[in-house]
Amino acid sequence: MISGEPGIGKTHCAEALADVAEDQGALVLWGRCHEEAGAPPYWPWVQILRAYVDASSLDEVRLNMGTAAKDIAALVPELLDSSHHAQQAPSAIADSSPARFRTF
Ligand SMILES: Nc1ncnc2c1ncn2[C@@H]1O[C@H](COP(=O)(O)OP(=O)(O)O)[C@@H](O)[C@H]1O
Ligand SMILES: [Mg+2]
Repeated sequence: MISGEPGIGKTHCAEALADVAEDQGALVLWGRCHEEAGAPPYWPWVQILRAYVDASSLDEVRLNMGTAAKDIAALVPELLDSSHHAQQAPSAIADSSPARFRTF
């Protein structure tokens, strides 16, 4: 976690770290928070998951999502196209505590 006042260099630091990680073969995925109200639920994670699905092979996605694919597909419906684990319709992003706990 990088924290600090605006303009102190958090983004710059994260980008420099990401460059090093990518040079060493890591997959770096970005999610950015929206400053105004009205962003979709879990918005930074939606961006990260979409980028992950785009960047990964079907086998890799399947392996890593496992039985959680159905819950994750509630956030990222395109997962349905690339995972046989998620053939049922995605569950709505329920407000219930158990559903939120599962998503986390
Ligand atoms: N180590 C650094 N050396 C020189 N300039 C920097 C450095 N870190 C940040 N900056 C510059 O300072 C400004 C604010 O940095 P930024 O990473 O956007 O801050 P934050 O994300 O914390 O608000 C940017 O213009 C950035 O290029
Ligand atoms: Mg920043």
